[in-house]
Amino acid sequence: MAASWLKDAIFYEIYPQSFYDTNGDGIGDFNGIIEKLDYVKSLGCNAIWLNPCFDSPFKDAGYDVRDYKKVAPRYGTNSDLYRLFGEAHRRGMRVILDLVPGHTSEEHPWFQASKKAEKNEYSDRYIWSNFCFEGCGGLNYVAGESERDGVYVLNFFKCQPALNYGFLHPDKPWQRAADSPAALATREAMKDVMRFWLDHGCDGFRVDMADSLVKFDDEQKTGTSAIWHDVRAMLDAEYPEAVLVAEWSHTALAIRAGFDAAFCLNDPWTGYPTLMRDYDRKHPEKPDNSYFRADGDGDIRRFLEPYLREYEATKDLGFISLITCNHDTVRPSWNLSDRELRLAYAFLFTMPGVPFLYYGDEIGMRYQDLPTHEGGYFRTGSRTPMQWDNTLNLGFSAGCADSLYLPVDSKRGAPTVAAQEKKPDSLLHFTRELLALRGEQADLRDNANLEIVHAEKGDAFVYRRGGLLIAVNPSAHEASAPADISGKSVLYAIGSGEAADAGIVLQPQSFVIFQ
Ligand code: NOJ
Repeated sequence: MAASWLKDAIFYEIYPQSFYDTNGDGIGDFNGIIEKLDYVKSLGCNAIWLNPCFDSPFKDAGYDVRDYKKVAPRYGTNSDLYRLFGEAHRRGMRVILDLVPGHTSEEHPWFQASKKAEKNEYSDRYIWSNFCFEGCGGLNYVAGESERDGVYVLNFFKCQPALNYGFLHPDKPWQRAADSPAALATREAMKDVMRFWLDHGCDGFRVDMADSLVKFDDEQKTGTSAIWHDVRAMLDAEYPEAVLVAEWSHTALAIRAGFDAAFCLNDPWTGYPTLMRDYDRKHPEKPDNSYFRADGDGDIRRFLEPYLREYEATKDLGFISLITCNHDTVRPSWNLSDRELRLAYAFLFTMPGVPFLYYGDEIGMRYQDLPTHEGGYFRTGSRTPMQWDNTLNLGFSAGCADSLYLPVDSKRGAPTVAAQEKKPDSLLHFTRELLALRGEQADLRDNANLEIVHAEKGDAFVYRRGGLLIAVNPSAHEASAPADISGKSVLYAIGSGEAADAGIVLQPQSFVIFQ
């Protein structure tokens, strides 16, 4: 049962390293986020997803947690984070943290104990084989780094050993069942982490690699889903307003497993291809057919087909979350012009589900070509400091330039909040108006119905949200669609559209909501 606040939620994702630095050390902090809460609220966002902010060696930007219950000192103290929860709540906003249940840092005390040759409480907290010269049946592993005889399984990078939630069908002496005492102990330890933060005022979790828990799970993720059902039951009983948002490659499975929402990530490494980034990094010679490009092939069906399948399967159970981008993808302004971005955002924020705006996308922050930092690799370029104004370090930090977490966008024309506040036609004001519209119109809310009216390659794409009829034409040419708009008036428009013999005609690069 989804938390009651979720149906109106619009999230803002904050990468804490890069949002706002108040102590001049070059890294963003909790006090900085508190100072900017009114700004986030002014955008129309009423909830925040904070990327991992826990104690960590930062070999994967904090997704390598060393202590689940202690924040990283570079962001402040636990008390600062509790204050952030309180300040957000005072403004009617919510904050969800990033829970990383599948793995820890190799420096986590559980893993340090688990590596030891003598048997101890944590020996089975991770997945180990019994013999150093034995592989793990296809799972990635590390051998030769422990006094313990055996190899350990990895969940992602080398620094991230997999926690042991058991195997669906254990068939080796070292594989534990998902209901074995060791696997249950891991699950209970993660529930304990969740209770800790919920008791201190957090409103739920974005769950990292939520589908990765039980090993050699089946296609339906039966083993992993059973764990989330159990977690959901705990939340329903103890924290009924807490939300769970999944990073899980299959949205419908995540929602059926008890998640309130799940990200639509056709391909988490490049953004979802067909809409905003139909670009293949392995084949840069291929044309970019992102639906929202004026020169794309105008085929919304590549996105719609899988989306609708998942939407129909889950619309009464939970929400699909569309994102402008996230800390793992290239920013949308990389391949979309200002006008194309507006059309893409207009679509994203008029679709059902719980939407997420990544910090800086509201001003069109640019993807930077940068060397890797904290395990970012190509993702580093989307993690640069927020651009507030044209003062030192674009207002992000009073520290010296080489102390910054990442360099700020130093090229000409770097967008800033201050400059765009002054321009009534800026992307910032555009985004704010769009989110306000979503907030005002009950038919645009997260749980209002979606119906596709017309979706053919090259035609205007038309869909209905409750009583509103919405038409989109991202192409450089006029486009039409058979849709009856007689008796309707324009509620909102980018460009224009009007009735014609065939139904509706939209001017190039237009988006119109009729009521
Ligand atoms: C997904 C996160 O979004 C990504 O940033 C991280 O590197 C991996 N999971 C591993 O935790």
